[in-house]
Amino acid sequence: MTQTVTGVASDRQPGIAGINTLATFRVAPTGAALGAEIQGVDFSLPVSDEVKEALRKAWADHLVLLFRHQDITDEQLIAAAGIFGPPHDAASRKYHLAVGKAVDNKFMLSPHASVSIISNLGADGNPVKDNGGLGSYEVVWHTDNSYVEVPPAGSMLYSLEVPQNGGGDTSFNNQYLAYEELPEDLKRAIAGKSQVHDSTRNSAGVLRPGVKLPARPEEVPGPTHPLVRIHPVSGRRALYLGRRRDWPSNYIVGMPNAESEALLDKLWAHATQPKYAWMHRWSAGELVLWDNRCCMHYRSEIDVTQRRVMHRTTIKGEPLIAG
Ligand code: OGA
Ligand code: MN
Repeated sequence: MTQTVTGVASDRQPGIAGINTLATFRVAPTGAALGAEIQGVDFSLPVSDEVKEALRKAWADHLVLLFRHQDITDEQLIAAAGIFGPPHDAASRKYHLAVGKAVDNKFMLSPHASVSIISNLGADGNPVKDNGGLGSYEVVWHTDNSYVEVPPAGSMLYSLEVPQNGGGDTSFNNQYLAYEELPEDLKRAIAGKSQVHDSTRNSAGVLRPGVKLPARPEEVPGPTHPLVRIHPVSGRRALYLGRRRDWPSNYIVGMPNAESEALLDKLWAHATQPKYAWMHRWSAGELVLWDNRCCMHYRSEIDVTQRRVMHRTTIKGEPLIAG
């Protein structure tokens, strides 16, 4: 008699148990201001066109998507992100390449230009506070790569190793709602205004290799982006703040310094209220996709005795549309 083993590959073939077809596809919203868990999708197997379409709709509706129980290669990670758009080459990589630094730590070096390794491992493979990247640091609220001319539309993070109870939780917030609920006087104050996005430091505050810390606003390198942007898919307006660092850093163009600082403080206090956020506590083998055009994200500090290794890929964005 042939024995049936559950959970073997034949159960997981697309179309057989309904995996990667609309038969088992399910969107389970978090109940918070954004985010949904997607069930019935396995990125180690081919995904049908109808599910790809449903995934793009779910992303537009929920801004952040969580997929549990994934076991995928970097190629499959890139293919999963490819459902949502073409790849964007990691922007922080060029700073490392410019000074030949990426090769220092093989635990942070991926052979794929569109994959970044986000880990807290040092060059010896053990967890450390500072590894030149995000390390074990708290990562302040930000949107990815807003310091380049055309920032990525989205980012996808895949967890390989996560701390047991040691922090490294990632939160996301809804910047459509933040804009819509902005008090009228603040909406008026930012109408038509732009901000210079400082490219000197990463989101853990670490100065990028080969970069000098600015002493005056005129020395802050980085592109200028509108404070309110229109999402190219939804057509909705979102607040687009980038990240906040001590002066001199991001500033609003055409406004006296003190006024720009005071206005940015008010916008940040409004945009980062807990009511706009949802937090994810990771297990290994999870994939989270977020939209950098209408969300920010934050990571809590990691217990430096524990390992955390994630692979990240980003999706190419479109030139910004000012709102
Ligand atoms: C990122 C990021 C957060 C995290 O990869 O862009 O901000 O949870 N990571 O590691
Ligand atoms: Mn980030």
